Amino acid sequence: MEDFFYVTTPIYYVNDVPHIGHAYTTVAADILARFNRQMGNAVFFLTGTDEHGQKVLKAASDAGLSPREHTDKLCVNFENLWTKLDITNNAFIRTTDAGHIEIVQELLQRLYDKGEIVKRRYEGWYCTHDERFWTDKDVKDRNCPDCGRPVENIEEENYFFLMSKYHDALVRHIKDNPGYIMPESRRNEVLGFLRSNALGDLCVSRPSQRLSWGVPMPFDKNYVTYVWFDALINYYSATRYKSADMKDFWPASVHIVGKDILTTHAVFWSAMLMALGMPLPKRLFAHGWWTTKGQKMSKSLGNAVDPFDIIERYGADALRYFLFREVTFGLDGDFSEGALIGRINTDLANDLGNLVSRSFAMLTKYYNGNIPTPDAVEPELKRLAEGILSKLNGHLDELAFNKALDEIWTLVTYLNKYIDTNKPWVLAKSNETGGRLRTVIYSLLEGIRFVSLYLYPFMPKSMCMLYNHLTQRDISNIKLPQAAKWGLLEKDITIHAMEQLFPRIEPDTKAPQPSAAKPKKDEVPMTTMANVIDIIDITDFAKVKLKTARVLTAEAVKGSNKLIRLTVDSGEERQIVAGIGKHYQPEELVGKTVVIVANLKPAKLMGVESQGMVLAASDSEGGLTLITVERDIAAGAQVK
Ligand code: MSP
Repeated sequence: MEDFFYVTTPIYYVNDVPHIGHAYTTVAADILARFNRQMGNAVFFLTGTDEHGQKVLKAASDAGLSPREHTDKLCVNFENLWTKLDITNNAFIRTTDAGHIEIVQELLQRLYDKGEIVKRRYEGWYCTHDERFWTDKDVKDRNCPDCGRPVENIEEENYFFLMSKYHDALVRHIKDNPGYIMPESRRNEVLGFLRSNALGDLCVSRPSQRLSWGVPMPFDKNYVTYVWFDALINYYSATRYKSADMKDFWPASVHIVGKDILTTHAVFWSAMLMALGMPLPKRLFAHGWWTTKGQKMSKSLGNAVDPFDIIERYGADALRYFLFREVTFGLDGDFSEGALIGRINTDLANDLGNLVSRSFAMLTKYYNGNIPTPDAVEPELKRLAEGILSKLNGHLDELAFNKALDEIWTLVTYLNKYIDTNKPWVLAKSNETGGRLRTVIYSLLEGIRFVSLYLYPFMPKSMCMLYNHLTQRDISNIKLPQAAKWGLLEKDITIHAMEQLFPRIEPDTKAPQPSAAKPKKDEVPMTTMANVIDIIDITDFAKVKLKTARVLTAEAVKGSNKLIRLTVDSGEERQIVAGIGKHYQPEELVGKTVVIVANLKPAKLMGVESQGMVLAASDSEGGLTLITVERDIAAGAQVK
């Protein structure tokens, strides 16, 4: 991998709500972005929305909204999904951004001035849905060869990009750079297409009286830009206007796209860049489609899998893992909840989850949770654990996600076997082998540290928890070249047993719960009614992670006289909504060190996400006071 890593997803049409197919590309890019950050590379990860064109205009008018209102509303669905999936994009581009439009116009003008764009009278078959012209030979029975809808014969003047000139240069570029289009089967398809078709010129304008929702042509205001021409430029425009730090990121390291949009990237985009005299991206990777029961997912067929629902029921990490474990990136895959549950139970709960819970339980039992100092290094385990890094690097460079997971799993499997062959419970009984037991337990935990580092790009939330539990450090700043060295797990720190990382899913338990499971409206839960304080076990208390947090900012939540939105430093920055507005003014909170529940599932209060809870004491007279610390202590310190 290189020092600068720039990865993109396609920009998604805002005419629809996101489904698993959209989540797929974005998670793929996120895995690469996270891995590259771990490798110490400077990363720019771009995603966004494609907001111009006929489809968006039609969806807006169907919804009774202006296109701008419609796109503002729908693009939030994508942003929300990326938050839920823990996506770490550096920028989110919208093609309606003024900054983008300006650069599209600049590039159009440059091509026009160079004579690469010319005006011509044109007659052809136009498909309004796909917003493109077809030739006589493409069109059968006056229907669009792509979507099957009727096409219209249109004769009009338009602007054409002289793409045909780049046919030979394009073939040469693809042949000379075997890694330019991946996988190889797709590269061969593109070469095959170019061998049997002379490249035509590309109509890049649409008369504004037919379609007004687009980027106006800078040299002729009677036309707007063809939506794909506008959209493809996003990959470059973002590097120019999203932040000054990103100006050196062009060309992209990899554009990840679905197989349906490979031609627009491999042919249109490559030729556009050649005409502009700009460097081409280093790689285009076309992945396959997720189907349901063998059919392509689409809203119109009603078979689109809703990622929000899957995340709600199984968690983002399980979904992220499944998408990249189940199917080779590049091939099609069929999505089923049965297969997802199978992966959760077998790989995550059995292999990984049991490894972690057995190891932590033995640490607690034999050493009271205190990581022992080993007597020796296990050479085979050290070689295996350290050796995975270069293999991961190679596989992820080729976007072979499932091969990368295979490699990581060799370590998980080895560690499980290591427990069985070394039988720590037998060692524990024999006094002479005390040193051996220390080595075995340490090696297991050290192996788990490697697993958590390697799996972090795939399952960030759970691996962050696991790593933090083992080392009391934040995984997001750890660099692999330094950290993937055997023996770095600190000895003599005390860690506690951990709750199951991935509980097994019993059939049907994740189906939507019947409302009977919730207390009825007027029903008071038993414990309150009887005013009983339940006794809990120390392990129950250990589940609650309390931390100190310094209040950085505080403001009242609009429309509420009770809620205050705080940003706090709890070792990491987070936002918490607290119902203390009747007792505190926002200004008096800034700078206070409070105590928070740090591992509470995020919830929304009046539409504002709260990532934790601030502790306060309240009495029966309505008094309330925040719990603060008696002496100065670092933000993020554990409270136990
Ligand atoms: N707006 C264009 C892309 C412009 S990029 C300069 C577009 N948008 S899209 O929303 O229709 O599709 C975005 C991506 O989602 C494509 O890469 C497409 O392949 C992918 N997927 C859409 N459905 C999919 C599946 N069922 N499975 C996997 N990916 C799929 O095209």
